Amino acid sequence: MTSPGILPTYQRPLNSMQAQFFRRSFRPREKYVILLVVFTFGLVCFGTFFFLPEFRGSNSTADSVYKVYDQFKRAGPELLIPPPPQLEANDDSSVLRLVRHDHDTQVDPHVVGDREKLRAKIEQDGDLKVLERPDIDGAKSKSSSTSRVDSHNQMDENVGREVDTNSNNNNAGIITVPASFSQKYPVITDGEDSDPAIRKKRDKVKEMMKHAWDNYVRYAWGKNELRPISKRGHSASIFGTLPLGATIMDGLDTLYIMGMDDEYKQGREWIANEFDIDSLIQSDVSVFEINIRFVGGLLSCFALTGDVLFKEKAQQIADKLIPAFQTPTGIPNALVNFKTGTSKNYGWASGGSSILSEFGTLHLEFAYLSDVTGNPLYRNKVDHIRQLLQSMEKPKGLYPNYLNPKTGKWGQHHMSMGALGDSFYEYLLKAWIQSNKEDNEARQMFDDAMAAVLKHMLNKSSGGLLYFAELKFDRPEHKMDHLGCFSGGLLGLASKALPTSSSSGRYMDVAKGITNTCHESYDRTYTKLGPESFRFTENVEAKALKTSEKYYILRPEVIESYFYMWRLTKDPIYREWGWEAVQALEKHCRTPGGYTGLKNVYNEEPLQDDVQQSFFLAETLKYLYLLFSDDSLLSLDEWVFNTEAHPLPIKSVNPYYREAAV
Ligand SMILES: *[C@@H]1O[C@H](CO)[C@@H](O)[C@H](O)[C@H]1NC(C)=O
Repeated sequence: MTSPGILPTYQRPLNSMQAQFFRRSFRPREKYVILLVVFTFGLVCFGTFFFLPEFRGSNSTADSVYKVYDQFKRAGPELLIPPPPQLEANDDSSVLRLVRHDHDTQVDPHVVGDREKLRAKIEQDGDLKVLERPDIDGAKSKSSSTSRVDSHNQMDENVGREVDTNSNNNNAGIITVPASFSQKYPVITDGEDSDPAIRKKRDKVKEMMKHAWDNYVRYAWGKNELRPISKRGHSASIFGTLPLGATIMDGLDTLYIMGMDDEYKQGREWIANEFDIDSLIQSDVSVFEINIRFVGGLLSCFALTGDVLFKEKAQQIADKLIPAFQTPTGIPNALVNFKTGTSKNYGWASGGSSILSEFGTLHLEFAYLSDVTGNPLYRNKVDHIRQLLQSMEKPKGLYPNYLNPKTGKWGQHHMSMGALGDSFYEYLLKAWIQSNKEDNEARQMFDDAMAAVLKHMLNKSSGGLLYFAELKFDRPEHKMDHLGCFSGGLLGLASKALPTSSSSGRYMDVAKGITNTCHESYDRTYTKLGPESFRFTENVEAKALKTSEKYYILRPEVIESYFYMWRLTKDPIYREWGWEAVQALEKHCRTPGGYTGLKNVYNEEPLQDDVQQSFFLAETLKYLYLLFSDDSLLSLDEWVFNTEAHPLPIKSVNPYYREAAV
């Protein structure tokens, strides 16, 4: 089905090429350089004089608008006020444009000369090291549409900004970091395994990404998702009726990590030039989905590349989600209208309740967004949710899936590690990791919640398979969702992140057991891909019983757990299982027009659902790629993945954190 003969080769000697570039001596041209330094210094002053006041002016205007907006919100929850157009004003600022396009520029020897001086100065001035950011700085793009003088200007602008420590813009050509950081930058591309057989498998995954992306570009560019068989666009209800380019937003960091430069650039240009949130028509979108896929994906791209475009867009989108928090309790509603700012909950959700896995899965993105923008609004919103949950009475220590945002009371007492519950638990642990183990409240809530979950929901089948049952008003339902299969990886991660916890050893045992069970759910099908839900009865174990539970929509959770368990245990079985999944995907889900889900994984010739989910590119293929990479690529010591597999940097240990100067 595949044609390995036409596997594209991606030459990516960027980091080493660039390193060589910086090592080069420019002495012969010293006079030339000095002249240019003087010249560019003049240009910087010129540029600062003309542009910066305007930039700052519009910024502080936006800030004061925000304060008024904030007060309005406190005045009463009934007042639904759309967020102010905070960044629109900046959009026209030529300064931002210059910075925004900095990755289009070519590295210019004169600028490098400037930087050497700047580096020397900063190192002399304080206890700081200056690291060259290896990934942008122009060497990445072979051609530049901007003129040489322009690009020169842009680089100078950046250097000027770096020196100005009061500037909010810490994302320019070089990053200053405390001397305590290691001189080495985290590995965010390359990261090949030393074993040629593993490298070949990784190449295969990359080719799958290329196939998925190219067909999306060909048949559904700018739409949310691709229909690979009918070869047209697709939009799930979570995106309303809006063409938001979900596959671009979700897949872009994967392209970047895989070193697919041309494709990455193509996606970036779409976000820069085509995605305009203010031109969208009225439609209700899911706060949770937009957060984890769009805000998360953009913030990940910002961390990886330093390109401020991504930070701006992430903030613009997050600002459109803020009106959903206008409820009596501050627990956000599930759906928000981007145009009007009105929000509501799903009709089916326990008398107008909000859903635990939705309002409980905003913390990583919102906290990070506050840190990189310097605006505390986002972190305040999610801290408030956390406080409220912590103070509530929990039945048997468990968190029900429904919470009414008007009354602040739990809805139906249903509990689940799968749909409706899952990523709430995930974000407690990951908030602790993201904060570099400062957020003790998150750790405590995770440990307490897990103690209750292990006590009341974990069970073992007569065949010896561990699983998390669901609870409906104290009655266990012996069913596990594919979604719940992330919990193997999560508990593995917990045993690493909480080594002193009394539960640490237990976490790892359960992690192995759950991951094994989820593999069984794959292995017991004809296609070797797992069903949406599987059950445990006297006669059947780890198999779907209802027709409505037998589908597979390219979901990542089982592979996600293989990835974590491989990193944490080094047991080669997880790579073997991952490779089984690759082969099954190629055999049953690959079509000439992209990848499709299946309606019944137990059939020899399963019907295809004709949807290539955006999370297939964001998560499934990314985790497979990382499974066959060296551990240094997106090390778990430096990055924490959001629930959509978008890596976010860990505070204080990862120089890519790019916190805004305050
Ligand atoms: C496990 O499931 C069995 C029924 O299959 C039930 O009798 C038992 O109480 C369950 N154990 C736990 C800890 O829920």
